[in-house]
Amino acid sequence: MKLEILIQSLQHWHKESGIQHEWKSNSPYQAWVVETILQQTRIAQGSAYIERFLQRFPDVSSLAKAAVDDVLKVWEGLGYYRRAHLMHKAAKIVKERGLWPKTKDEWLNLPGIGPYSAGALASFVNNENCPAIDGNVIRVFARWYDLDINLYSAQGKRHLHSLVENHLAHCHANQYNQILMDFGSNVCKPKKPLCSVCVAQAYCKSFTKGTIEDRPIKKVKRPKTHRYFILYWHVNECQQLGMAKREAKDIWRGLWTLPHKEIAMAHWNSVIEKTNALTHRQVLSHQYINTAVLQQKAPTDISIDTHYIDLPDAILLPMDRSSRQYIDHLAKGYILRGRQ
Ligand code: ADE
Repeated sequence: MKLEILIQSLQHWHKESGIQHEWKSNSPYQAWVVETILQQTRIAQGSAYIERFLQRFPDVSSLAKAAVDDVLKVWEGLGYYRRAHLMHKAAKIVKERGLWPKTKDEWLNLPGIGPYSAGALASFVNNENCPAIDGNVIRVFARWYDLDINLYSAQGKRHLHSLVENHLAHCHANQYNQILMDFGSNVCKPKKPLCSVCVAQAYCKSFTKGTIEDRPIKKVKRPKTHRYFILYWHVNECQQLGMAKREAKDIWRGLWTLPHKEIAMAHWNSVIEKTNALTHRQVLSHQYINTAVLQQKAPTDISIDTHYIDLPDAILLPMDRSSRQYIDHLAKGYILRGRQ
């Protein structure tokens, strides 16, 4: 199959598939919000976040003016909160300049924008004919060309970039980047790809060789480290909950949490054995965060300040997933008991 025929077949497939994204927009603000949220999560979960984000912050001025806590609150649950901080910073820059980026290089200069997002935004918003290489595109090209090299290395990235550019000599990125992403997530899927109905089957070297399951070559994963935290749930006589704000350059930066201390695994094991504390585990990209909650006042030796906040207000703060889980569970019981 010739490249031109492949591209035509994909364009035809996309049209026939009827795939439409209700959040798709030429507005730089909306496209930027969409791409940033979708970097963090799949479309199925991301759509609700996009809608909420755009409702709460309908334009760049409202985002730039917002308190960072309000941005984190809308972001809550998506994880990787640094992205929300960087979005806020970028909104302030754009608001001050009064101008959005016009090229891929200009997009790259905004905080939080990497090569993928810059390519996606320059092609979708500014009609620049440039690649946008995300995980979908990596997988699709690894299979079409049966690439058995590490596509996350500098050399691998360069090779992939030149292959995508070669396609873009025959079509336009504004449309083609979207087609590639949708093709990757709907047909050339990571697991159980739909090869039997795929319009690119005759072009696909991995299909011919039977190596679909082995492409792309897996990223070598750094083993995740485990960390252990004891969290403290304490409501004082004024119905205020002890909360703390994480400011350190570490997990949960800028988020509120229950006051806590980090402990060693051996200590953790003995706490879990001695108490029947509720526990929760957060899985981050390189760490497992194991938490247990004790229903008592935080000891004075913890390294984070406790602020007592009226329970109904505390519930509304942007917070990490473990604290949210415990508060949802324990505040309900507490308020119910208080009302009886
Ligand atoms: N993931 C990230 N951006 C996307 C887009 N524009 N379309 C589909 N999936 C995406």
